[in-house]
Amino acid sequence: MNFTLSEEQLMIRNAARDFAKTVLLPGVIERDNKQEFPKDEVRQMGELGFLGMMASPEYGGGGMDTLSYVLVMEELSKIDASSSVIVSVNNSLVCWGLDTYGTPKQKEKYLTKLTSGVAIGAFCLSEPEAGSDATSQKTTAIDHGDHYILNGTKNWITNGSTAEYYIVIAQTDASKGHRGINALLIEKGWKGFEIGPKEDKLGIRGSDTHSLIFNDVKVPKENRIGEDGFGFKFAMKTLAGGRIGIAAQALGIAAGAYELAKEYAKVRKSFGTEIMNHQAIAFKLADMHTQIEAARMLVHKAAVDKDNHENYDLSSAIAKLHASQTAMDVTIEAVQIHGGNGFVKEYHVERLMRDAKITQIYEGTSEIQKIVISRSILKH
Ligand code: CAA
Repeated sequence: MNFTLSEEQLMIRNAARDFAKTVLLPGVIERDNKQEFPKDEVRQMGELGFLGMMASPEYGGGGMDTLSYVLVMEELSKIDASSSVIVSVNNSLVCWGLDTYGTPKQKEKYLTKLTSGVAIGAFCLSEPEAGSDATSQKTTAIDHGDHYILNGTKNWITNGSTAEYYIVIAQTDASKGHRGINALLIEKGWKGFEIGPKEDKLGIRGSDTHSLIFNDVKVPKENRIGEDGFGFKFAMKTLAGGRIGIAAQALGIAAGAYELAKEYAKVRKSFGTEIMNHQAIAFKLADMHTQIEAARMLVHKAAVDKDNHENYDLSSAIAKLHASQTAMDVTIEAVQIHGGNGFVKEYHVERLMRDAKITQIYEGTSEIQKIVISRSILKH
């Protein structure tokens, strides 16, 4: 693997780093406290091209590689994981899915708005009783000739109330199991589509998470993505790429906490010296650095696999499993190194620790990643 980033990749990474420091950082604690969606910040990220990075230029996308995207995800997540999850869902799950499997008409109508940030999207798979077990969809999309009638409830939907467009996974023919599932594009405001109350979350509190309720929503057939029955495979393919984005988010959370802890260890004194001079602290930093370096290599490997059109189901699951564990371990240690200061909000590390936890849950729990990995390594 080539570890040298191109001029263009370095430029994109630096642009994201500057943006995170100058635009995301100032309000990040307040947004977390108030559970406030980063509306202006998302608009600016759209202007910078962060919302449709990998999508085709023909539809307003950046036409960039996945590696550039994970560089941006890492930098944004060092500062504000609530903002980076919005970027991740819009890029990986919504724009990529639509760009790869949508019709020209769907792309013209929806993708052009999603890549520019004029509208953001949501990906709706999880249900009250179907989170990990994604084939057990209870939401139904019954075929009525030229349209479907959609009924059911989706849970924990990122961008739940702020999205304009929603990709909804639903069961059309239960007798066909996963081959009877479809992916449908729904617009906000359609009759029978209700947005449930906002979730009060442990972390990524600036992002907007809701349940969604569909009561006899009429969806034209032209809004189905892919062939009849392709919905489950669409979800799996899309999520495999999504996991690279979330692995990069986890990496960024870990790297952000590590950088804060390292700087703190250089200035904070105890027992007559800076705490970095105590081996207890220096060894913690060594472990954190090592885990982060390994996570970064795995994340880049998964991104490069995808860019090289190789199968990335395994590498994305490995990257997500390791990077999310790293995020958890490193943020806990970052709080510990900060001592009492780590427990208060102004030092940022407690927020990063709370934000880290979701990376082990969404877009497939760590246990789901182990299912994907074990199936892949044992099938040969
Ligand atoms: N690519 C293409 N096809 C795939 C695939 C992939 N990566 N993974 C599975 N499939 C296909 C299989 O080949 C199979 O098709 P065939 O029968 O034609 O061969 C079909 O899908 C069913 O596969 P499985 O039998 O493996 O299905 P399963 O029921 O055992 O489930 C699972 C597999 C990996 C556990 C899956 O259900 C899964 O990934 N669950 C987790 C769901 C998830 O990640 N949810 C996150 C919600 S989204 C979110 O969090 C977004 C957000 O807001 C941030």
